[in-house]
Amino acid sequence: MSDFAELHFEGEVYKLPVVEGTENEKALDISKMRGQSGLITIDPGYKNTGSTESAITFLDGEKGILRYRGYPIEQLAEKSSFLEVAYLIIYGELPNAEELKKWETEITYHTLIHEDFKVLLEGFPSNAHPMGVLSSCVTALTAFYPDSLDPVRSKDEVRISIVRLMAKLPTLASWAYKNEIGQPLLYPKNNMDYASNFLRMMFATPAEDFTPDPVVVSALSTLLILHADHEQNCSTSTVRIVGSSHASLYASVSAGINALWGPLHGGANQAVIEMLEAIKADGGDADKYLAKAKDKDDPFRLMGFGHRVYKNFDPRARIIKKAADDVLGKLGVNDPILEIAKKLEEAALVDPYFVERKLYPNVDFYSGIIYRALGIPTNMFTVMFALGRLPGWIGQWKEMRENNEPIGRPRQVYTGENERDYKDVGSR
Ligand code: SDX
Repeated sequence: MSDFAELHFEGEVYKLPVVEGTENEKALDISKMRGQSGLITIDPGYKNTGSTESAITFLDGEKGILRYRGYPIEQLAEKSSFLEVAYLIIYGELPNAEELKKWETEITYHTLIHEDFKVLLEGFPSNAHPMGVLSSCVTALTAFYPDSLDPVRSKDEVRISIVRLMAKLPTLASWAYKNEIGQPLLYPKNNMDYASNFLRMMFATPAEDFTPDPVVVSALSTLLILHADHEQNCSTSTVRIVGSSHASLYASVSAGINALWGPLHGGANQAVIEMLEAIKADGGDADKYLAKAKDKDDPFRLMGFGHRVYKNFDPRARIIKKAADDVLGKLGVNDPILEIAKKLEEAALVDPYFVERKLYPNVDFYSGIIYRALGIPTNMFTVMFALGRLPGWIGQWKEMRENNEPIGRPRQVYTGENERDYKDVGSR
């Protein structure tokens, strides 16, 4: 295999080293190309550009492979727990019994939030979207933990910042929801596991406690595992580039939450349900909406379909689709939009437009149907995605800082006016 590529430009030949990963992915190292040839590359959306070398997650979009630290997602979803997977992603290896117990205990004992957060929450109008509240509260953690502002000074600071974020995000998420519906905030209980604690804080009230159904707890834990990391997606790349300026972990994750909010990214799970509801309200005609999705003059997109990397299937979507059938069956929920979703998928998978563009259901296509069956309100779906993705954001930020990566600062090709002299155009 050649370990370099030749660039022929204006009569010169430049050798560009080829970097090869542990799964035989190959990349052109262009880090010295501008200095040698004066050329930069341009790649809107970074569709063909690698930003880093990472040892955390491996995806193969053609084969539908997803592994965290080498472990297949199918095995982790079936056999592991969310906190165990979070430890794996952040620290690189599955924890032994003692490490897991310490990790779970640390997180359990940091779930409380400073009471002054209530003042912050009260400042939001009741119609504030929980994602905006959540990103604001995560940024506010920098005020309550000023030592977190440059945690890489010491491994202990990094560890406690990671633990606090993992521990407090579910509490903050439930508080954002309770604040929106005008119900009293609930406090975490130290005798409950991660998912159960979150569900109780979401659905218990002072009038009536709430004991989560084990089926719901299991389904939520699986969904959190499936969302835990996904290499250099939009929100993770945001966390990395913000962190590359040596901004704190909390500031970097808050930026990631905002990037995830977009409907082309994590906001798609909310957009899918809204789309399915609209199709149902309009008579449930899947073919009509497939035609709209194919019409270039129609802004309608089939939300939950398509992916930058997966071009055959999203392995997470397969697991979630099966889980949707299981969970709705066990809970005795008959949701007509699940049938509409299946009709859309069946029709799209044989439609040339979707087949030619390799558009398949992604992680967001069925996840909202499960969240809905679990009783999670629609505008909290992307918050659920953020809860799941948190270990990935943390692990990628930690890897970037430990590798001493330089500040992210892409170049550009200027297409504006050439030099011109200032002249009074009659403005004075
Ligand atoms: C996530 O990157 C990650 O890993 C993300 C994620 C993660 O875990 O972090 O997996 C989570 O964000 C999943 C994606 C959720 N988003 C959606 O479901 C929104 C709908 N899908 C898209 O808008 C789109 O497919 C993207 C954003 C997911 C991918 O966009 P790309 O790779 O930039 O592809 P594109 O927009 O250039 O589309 C290529 C073609 C275009 O048609 P042509 O110009 O070639 O004629 O496919 C068409 C698009 O119009 N197309 C769609 C479509 N998605 C792409 N047409 C109709 N419906 C769609 N959903």
